[in-house]
Amino acid sequence: MSFKVGQTLTVVGVSKPDASDFSVNIGQDEDITLHINPRFNAHGDENKVVCNSYQGGKWCEEVRAEGFPFHQGQEFKMVIDFTPAEFVVTLSDGSKIHFPNRIGAEKYSVMKFDGDVRITSFGIK
Ligand code: GAL
Repeated sequence: MSFKVGQTLTVVGVSKPDASDFSVNIGQDEDITLHINPRFNAHGDENKVVCNSYQGGKWCEEVRAEGFPFHQGQEFKMVIDFTPAEFVVTLSDGSKIHFPNRIGAEKYSVMKFDGDVRITSFGIK
């Protein structure tokens, strides 16, 4: 399964009741072109969504979202549009995060979920 330019990836999940953070990661090999990391209480942040890429063994420049439409133990949805220019992530409250496709590939085959979360549905269209 791969995620290509022009496609939309939809992830639905439930964070754990005592979640500190979790992440959705899209990449290739060891690199991550898009890391979406809702932090309830982690890495010195409280209720913040942090996005970044991981390239050549290093985290790059973070993009921090304005809102935080996540609640511990509750369901969330993320809709990720892969446009030719960037990724656009729409969160449960309709707010959007724009993140550049820094690796620049047109398709990614690594999709990983980490942390305090249970993914209930995942699809690419
Ligand atoms: C680090 C954290 C990573 C990742 C990164 C994003 O502090 O350990 O898991 O979230 O920030 O910039």
